[in-house]
Amino acid sequence: IAGHFDARDEVTSGRILNNVTSSPTGFKVALLGAAGGIGQPLALLLKKSPLIDVLNLYDIVNTPGVACDLSHIDTPCKVQGFAGAGQLGAALEGCHLVIIPAGVPRKPGMTRDDLFNTNAGIVRTLAEGVAKYCPRAVVNVISNPVNSTVPIVAEVMKARGVYDPAKLMGVTTLDVLRARTFVAEAIGVPPGSVDLPVIGGHAGITILPLLSQATPSFSFTDDEVAKLTKRIQNGGTEVVDAKAGAGSATLSMAQAALRFGESCLRGLKGDTNVLECAYVQSTVTSVPYFASKILLGRSGVEATYPLGPLSASEREGLNKLLPELKANIEKGIAFAHK
Ligand code: NAI
Repeated sequence: IAGHFDARDEVTSGRILNNVTSSPTGFKVALLGAAGGIGQPLALLLKKSPLIDVLNLYDIVNTPGVACDLSHIDTPCKVQGFAGAGQLGAALEGCHLVIIPAGVPRKPGMTRDDLFNTNAGIVRTLAEGVAKYCPRAVVNVISNPVNSTVPIVAEVMKARGVYDPAKLMGVTTLDVLRARTFVAEAIGVPPGSVDLPVIGGHAGITILPLLSQATPSFSFTDDEVAKLTKRIQNGGTEVVDAKAGAGSATLSMAQAALRFGESCLRGLKGDTNVLECAYVQSTVTSVPYFASKILLGRSGVEATYPLGPLSASEREGLNKLLPELKANIEKGIAFAHK
């Protein structure tokens, strides 16, 4: 039956196949919103991923052209284009991972919540497709406002009786990339050598970088903490303003989504110790969805980690963000039930 496979069996058979035919992994990935600002560069990066055998590009427009263009690149991943609602099922069938950057981006002066009215409906429709055609797939939600769109997907899956919290993640990786880059700049080391968790959600003050847990450890002054935290929280707005009406972060987001999507696939494949931060169903705080450090494995999210020791300003930031995040979550849930 379409979509009714066990991801674990598929992975296992993919690995057996691996030994026999040197096929990479057997993974099939769908990208929904593939012709957009994030979709196109992300499709390019995914086409180059050794973890992906088949890449299905879905959008309401322009995917045949994007798919044809990418298909000429000499990497093994097979790219297929699907356009329009009538082809959503074919795009999703048999997929192990579905990445969703469909929807409108911000313009200067807008908050992510201003996108809710347009994007909530788009995400709900796409989630219905996932529930119907590939209910066991891991779903990476990029469409904003992530704080609300993830609960929308969860409610749609629940209504269809196929919700698995381990399979649903809101992508907050760009916040982590920004935190690494800005902190590295501030302390004068290469960006790749810095790591730190970014927790909470993916909008304004709900984005909370834990600078006190950065490695290499560094003692920032209160002023430096305030400035860095603010810059990380406003990273998206920095790009929106710089693009001056031509959209929001697309290239850095594509890189972030590649990183997170590949981590999900590495987990499904059986790699150990695959750690990321993501916005998932959570009992780490008082709100039902929260971004924090997670372990990715064969069944998706296999563990969410406690926040660890927080500084006084981080505790304050956490207390401030929780009511806002709670309201964003409730808005998503209410929409899904309308
Ligand atoms: P874009 O407007 O360039 O592309 C969006 C694409 O979605 C378009 O190709 C459009 O045709 C497609 N689309 C619209 N309705 C659709 C539907 N029903 N089914 C399938 N595709 C549909 O926007 P961009 O810049 O790619 O941003 C996409 C989303 O990602 C926005 O909501 C933006 O706010 C969000 N975003 C999230 C980030 C994160 O860190 N999670 C970072 C940056 C952007």
